[in-house]
Amino acid sequence: MLRRDALKLIGAGFLPFIISGKLKALNKFLESSLKASDFKKFTWGISSAAVQVEGAWDTDGKGPSIWDTFSKIKGKIKDGSTPETACDFYNRYPQDIEIIKQLGFGANRFSISWPRIIPLGTGQKNQNGIDFYNRVIDKSLEKGIEPWVTLYHWDLPQALEDRGGWTNREIVNWFSDYASLCAKSFGDRVKHWIVLNEPLSFTGLGYGIGYHAPGLKGLRHFLPAIHHAVLCQAEGGRVLRNEVANAVIGSAFSCSPIDPQHQSHRDEKAARRLDAFINRLFAEPTLGMGYPFDDLHFLKKIEKYMLPGDEEKMKFNFDFFGLQYYFRIVADFSIFNPILWANQVPPIKRHVPITEMNWEVYPDGMYRVLKQFSKYPVKEFVITENGAAFKDTLSDGQVNDIQRTNFFQDYLQDLLKAKNEGINVTGYFAWSLLDNFEWVEGFYPRFGLVYVDHKSQERIIKNSGKWFSEFLRE
Ligand code: GAL
Repeated sequence: MLRRDALKLIGAGFLPFIISGKLKALNKFLESSLKASDFKKFTWGISSAAVQVEGAWDTDGKGPSIWDTFSKIKGKIKDGSTPETACDFYNRYPQDIEIIKQLGFGANRFSISWPRIIPLGTGQKNQNGIDFYNRVIDKSLEKGIEPWVTLYHWDLPQALEDRGGWTNREIVNWFSDYASLCAKSFGDRVKHWIVLNEPLSFTGLGYGIGYHAPGLKGLRHFLPAIHHAVLCQAEGGRVLRNEVANAVIGSAFSCSPIDPQHQSHRDEKAARRLDAFINRLFAEPTLGMGYPFDDLHFLKKIEKYMLPGDEEKMKFNFDFFGLQYYFRIVADFSIFNPILWANQVPPIKRHVPITEMNWEVYPDGMYRVLKQFSKYPVKEFVITENGAAFKDTLSDGQVNDIQRTNFFQDYLQDLLKAKNEGINVTGYFAWSLLDNFEWVEGFYPRFGLVYVDHKSQERIIKNSGKWFSEFLRE
């Protein structure tokens, strides 16, 4: 331990801990002395998504998205809410970008709502929608904040869903035209692009088990949706590469370390299958390795949707791999449960610390997923999302969300460990700026660094946000 650290510890009242040898508490304190400057040449950003914050669902010519339709079906959203108003970012973006600046982040990751700029998904563009994103981009740049744009964060135009959505191969052309409009409209100022956000989530939850919009179930929806998303991911990359000078292009994948519950053949097999499903399904075809048929037998049926030449079209040489890490998965084998996702032991049964989403708090996973993916020929990693929902209480105008601050410190410590071991990770985006519309969970789980009073739309920076701003300023 450095002398400076020792003095700091004594000054902070840690002498009894040092004497009594309570190393855990001591370690925690040392970790909190994490410094932003330890992360050399690094982008610090904040992430959000159109549906979750914008509101203005039918303002200025915007068309409906599948989330507008789905959220209005009774019983789909847990608290009965809709994204109609969300956080009113559509009107309050200047204030919110000012807060990003105040917190010290250098990058603002947000998504373009496809039906806001092309209301029917194809054909006629909506200049009002394009102008809105121009204002967001210009305001970010004016504040010295780099815009990072996600092309697709789950809000398919309803008009395209009516034509089969992700199950219709035509989507590759629709998406290509949409990507091209984004490139032409924003490419003079936006250099960082993320093509898809978590393809496994929107195909699996939306077209596999029907839990998310558009609410479709079964392999006949899921398999074509997977294949078309893989094709669009690469196609979006090619369009941006051709149309935006000096573009830095990535796509964002949900990743989790997977452990077998017991060292048994069956649990290990379950873990391998889940790993193929969660971590490899979208990454490997993009990297030119094809689909992970070896551990996912049901996937063989996807060949029915593949045309000659698709293997080539599935590949794209991304500049960075957007890795989104929230939790670990522990797998157990069950012959009774055909749904792959369900072959896991819920954290609550494992008696581990959890968040309000019932996700395990497992910082080591940050290191482990980076290590796992570093085996692939990836040029650069960017953590495009990481964060946690905890029960926040507003008292005397303050939200003392110590669990969230600890969460960020612990996960960042593991990220630094991976970086120090030579993994080329060049950025970190916290999820999220604001408490927002958390898909089917509605407004209940709060992920923000900034508390939002959903009635008055007042914003209050939580203590975790204040911690971030001190950390980044240091
Ligand atoms: C991600 C998703 C985000 C956000 C986050 C927290 O999977 O991309 O939109 O909802 O989870 O749940």
